[in-house]
Amino acid sequence: MKSPMVNLLKWTAIALGSLAGLVLIALAVIYLISSNRMQRSYSVPSHPVAALSDSSVIAYGKRLSQIRGCTDCHGENLAGRLVIDAPLVMKLYSSNLTPGKGGIGKTYSDADWERSIRHGVRPNGKPLLFMPTLELIHLSDGDVAALIAYLKTLPPVDRVMPASTVGPLGRVLYLAGEIPLVHAELVDHVAGHPDAPTPGITVEYGQYLALGCMGCHGPHLTGGKIPGAPPDWPLAANLTPSGNLKDWDEAGFIQAMRTGIKPNGQPFQPQMPYQTLKAMTDEELKAIWLFLQSLPANTGLTNAAASTEP
Ligand code: HEC
Ligand code: HEC
Repeated sequence: MKSPMVNLLKWTAIALGSLAGLVLIALAVIYLISSNRMQRSYSVPSHPVAALSDSSVIAYGKRLSQIRGCTDCHGENLAGRLVIDAPLVMKLYSSNLTPGKGGIGKTYSDADWERSIRHGVRPNGKPLLFMPTLELIHLSDGDVAALIAYLKTLPPVDRVMPASTVGPLGRVLYLAGEIPLVHAELVDHVAGHPDAPTPGITVEYGQYLALGCMGCHGPHLTGGKIPGAPPDWPLAANLTPSGNLKDWDEAGFIQAMRTGIKPNGQPFQPQMPYQTLKAMTDEELKAIWLFLQSLPANTGLTNAAASTEP
């Protein structure tokens, strides 16, 4: 007769074995469902834009590539970089947008640029990971045309980017709706693209410009955890009137966005991309400030971001 100890060990081993089996099955299901969604094909109606190539348009397009975050994620020369390095969540590489080796610039048509930028869909119909289409879909035809005009002038940089990988934790968060990994599944590809509000110091134009802040500061600009960001990233600040900026004025805001130094003398933490956003004009920053001031006060949501040690 076996001792009770041996029996206990046997049953523990069986229980652990089944548990490991269940975990493996769960992982397999998670990989299957998430891969399926990442490889779905999208057909996007064509939205022709006229990419004029005069020098003032190209200069404006260059500024757009900075204030709309392209250089933040694709690197200063737009030749791609490692954007997120958290293998359990994801190792995310942005694309090389130049016409160099490994870049897409040589083969992309104007229609391909438009589809990738505003719809987050590759020329072959597959969705791009993490391209912020939720915000970029609102770009006007004129702004997209200017961007394309500039992107077509990029000097070639030879850089072959590795493929991005999404780890088990990233896939669980994706399926749970916590990370907007595939923006193409979150937008209406058929609706047209409205014109931009007339540039000026207005709430409407400020809102149009502030679309680019929402990927990090949230759709209502109330801040908090940045979706998909590694755990060591600070929370994004609450930009509503009762939030982190409640003691700021317009001049302090403009100065902070230009110099990276907040009115209280503290520098922005490096995750706040002021280096690229500082290409905004005074008028653009004033419009954003006006828009921020028009937001509903959001009491109780002041994030500790500003006091977190870098
Ligand atoms: C939040 C980071 C982020 C921002 C901001 C961003 N991109 Fe991207 N972009 C990416 C990533 C990551 C990929 C690669 C996705 C993939 O491989 O699935 C990508 C892919 C692309 C592609 C597709 C290239 C290809 O491989 O076919 C184009 C074109 C592009 N981006 C242009 C832009 C432009 C123009 C802007 C600014 C208006 C911009 N991106 C802003 C992260 C970003
Ligand atoms: C890539 C993510 C990202 C984007 C895009 C971004 N921010 Fe931030 N921002 C942050 C983070 C993270 C913080 C908190 C770190 C800090 O306060 O230094 C922050 C802090 C700030 C603060 C300082 C508030 C305080 O007192 O700490 C201001 C002002 C601000 N952002 C404005 C903007 C505006 C305006 C835009 C769009 C034009 C924008 N941000 C776009 C990530 C981002």
